Amino acid sequence: MRFVRCLIGINLLSCAASFTIPPFPQQILGNPKAGKEKCPLPPKVTLDDDNLFPSLRYPQDETVLQRQVSRLSKAVQIPTAVTDSMKDPHDESFAPFVEFHQLLAELFPQIHSKSKVERINRLGLVITLDPPSGTRNQPKKPLLFTAHQDVVPIDDASDWTHPPFSGYFDGEFVWGRGSSDCKNGLIGLLSVVEDLLNQDWTPSRPVVLAFGFDEEAHGYLGAGKIAPLLEERYGKDGVEFILDEGGMGLSTLRSSSASALHDEEDNVIYALPDVGEKGALDIILSLSVPGGHSSVPPKHTGIGIMSEIIYNLENTELDIFTPSLGPDHPTRRMLECQVHHSPQYVETWLASALDSDDYAATAESVAQSRGDDRRFTLQSSQAADIFNGGVKSNALPEKVRTVVNYRVGLHQTPDMVQERAEKIIEPIIAKYNLTWSRFSDTGNVGADSGVGKGGHLTLSTSRPPLSPAPVSPTDIETSPVWARFAGVTRSVFESVPSLRGKTVVVSGDIMTGNTDTRFYWNLSRNIYRWSPAREGRALNIHTVDERIGIDAHLEAMMLYYDLIRAFDQWDGGVDQI
Ligand SMILES: *[C@@H]1O[C@H](CO)[C@@H](O)[C@H](O)[C@H]1NC(C)=O
Ligand SMILES: *[C@@H]1O[C@H](CO)[C@@H](O)[C@H](O)[C@H]1NC(C)=O
Repeated sequence: MRFVRCLIGINLLSCAASFTIPPFPQQILGNPKAGKEKCPLPPKVTLDDDNLFPSLRYPQDETVLQRQVSRLSKAVQIPTAVTDSMKDPHDESFAPFVEFHQLLAELFPQIHSKSKVERINRLGLVITLDPPSGTRNQPKKPLLFTAHQDVVPIDDASDWTHPPFSGYFDGEFVWGRGSSDCKNGLIGLLSVVEDLLNQDWTPSRPVVLAFGFDEEAHGYLGAGKIAPLLEERYGKDGVEFILDEGGMGLSTLRSSSASALHDEEDNVIYALPDVGEKGALDIILSLSVPGGHSSVPPKHTGIGIMSEIIYNLENTELDIFTPSLGPDHPTRRMLECQVHHSPQYVETWLASALDSDDYAATAESVAQSRGDDRRFTLQSSQAADIFNGGVKSNALPEKVRTVVNYRVGLHQTPDMVQERAEKIIEPIIAKYNLTWSRFSDTGNVGADSGVGKGGHLTLSTSRPPLSPAPVSPTDIETSPVWARFAGVTRSVFESVPSLRGKTVVVSGDIMTGNTDTRFYWNLSRNIYRWSPAREGRALNIHTVDERIGIDAHLEAMMLYYDLIRAFDQWDGGVDQI
C-alpha cells in the first residue's frame, strides 16, 4: 500500500479558530440532503441460514489460529520484493513469485482444483469461482477482491528484531516484510474461499480474486494487465463491488486525542475504508548547459539554475497548495460522523466549522488541529525527491536532473500542477537565456537544443499523470452496495470478541497514496480499500519490524467470509442515483 498511515490525532489545545455560521446555502436552495440525519448507522446485515460454519469460528478456534500462523508465515518467508527497475516478469529477479505460486497451490488445494486459476503476464493471478452453469437466468455481477503478492524491499536486515523474511510468530504477532502489507489480506482471502469450497459452497454470482505482483512499483505489470482482461470479460461497470487493501483500519478517537481529560471508556469504534485516492505525478526536469573548466565559470552553473528552479517551486504561493473540505469530500463525512457519535472527543468548534461554506478555512483549521497526515488528505503536495548533477570538482556540470513528486488533492487536477510549475519556471528560462520543451511538446527536444545559448530545459512526466480517483458512494440511502458493505462491517466488528459491546461507525476517508485500484476504475463505482486491523495490530508497514497481530488477521477473515456470503445471498445492487 503506497501511503502514509494517517491517524485521527487531535490536538485539542491548538484549536483556537473561531467560526461564524453563515446560512448554509444549500439549505436555502432546498437541497434534499438538508436536515437529513448526519452519519446514520448502517443497518446490520443478518445472513440467511446457509449451513456454513459461522465466521466467529475464525477468532475462536485455536486450530484455525495455528493454521493461519503457518500459512501467513510461509507466505512471508518467500521474498517477493519488487523495485522500480524490475520491468520484465520473465526476468530472474521475479523468480520468488514462481515459488510463491507453488506455495499457494500447496496451501489451497480446493481453490486450485475447483476454481479457474489464470496467470496474467506470467505472474499476475486471477482466480474465478463461477456459479454452476444453468442455475440462473438473471446473471448477477461479480464480486472482486484484490491484494498484491509483492512487498517493498528491505534496507538493512540487521535492523530487524526478527529477520525480515523469517515469518517469526511470537505468540501474538507474525513478523516480517509483507506480513501486514499485504500478504495478510491475500492469505486471508484465499483461506476463506478455501473454507467455502471445503464446505461444498457454490456461488450464485462470480467471485473473483485478483492479485497483482508489482503494486509497490506502480502496478503496471500486474493490475495494469489484469484490469483490461476483467473489463473485457465483465464490461464497463460490470463488477458489483471491489475490495482492495488500504484505509485506516479501526480506531477510537479517544486514544489519539488529549486522553488525559477523559477517563471513561470510548465505546465508539471508527471503521475507515478509503473511498477515494489523491492523484499523483512526477515532474522530471532535465537541464543541459554548456560545460567547461571550472576555473572559468559562469556566475550560475547548471546546478545553480536548477537550485533556483526548485527554490522557486517551493517558495511561490500560487494558491494551489491550499486545503479544501468541499461538500463532497469524504473527510467531511468522517468528521460529521465524529461530531455526531463522539462529541466529547472532537474540537469544540468543529460542528460549526462544518456548517460553514468557507471550505478552505474549515480545511485549514482541521489541518492545523490534526496534523500533516490529515492535512495532506485535504490538499495537494509537492516534494523534490531526486537531484542529480555534476561529475567532477573541476568540471562544470553539463546535465542536471531533478524529479519533483506531486500528490493531487481531490479538488484539483494534474494539469493545474503542471501549469503552476511552468508559470514559475518561465521567468527563470528567460533570465538564463534557456530554451525549453514542456510536457506535451517533449517530442521536439533537440529541435532547438539551445546550442550557443544558455542551455535547454526539458519538463516531462515519467508516466501519464494520475487524476484523483472517482469517489465511491457512501450514502446508505442511495447506495445499496455501500449500505450492504457497511452493514456487514458493522455486524462483524460489533461481534468480534475484542470489540464486543462497542458501536462501530463506518465512514469513508481518502488515501494520500495509491493502490492497484487505480487500474480498476472502469470496472465499478463501488471501490473500497480497506485492511481492517484495529489500532496497533498492523505495524510498521514499509519499514523495519513490520508485523501483524494474528487476531487482526482472523478478524479480517471474518469480514471477507461474511462479505462474500452477504453479497452472494443478495439480489440488489442497482444504484438509485
Ligand atoms: C542573455 O542574452 C542576452 C542577449 O544575448 C545577454 O545580454 C545576456 O547577458 C544573456 N544572459 C545570460 C544570463 O546569459
Ligand atoms: C477505462 O476506459 C477508458 C475509456 O474506454 C479507456 O480509455 C481506459 O484505458 C480504461 N482504463 C483502464 C485503466 O483500463
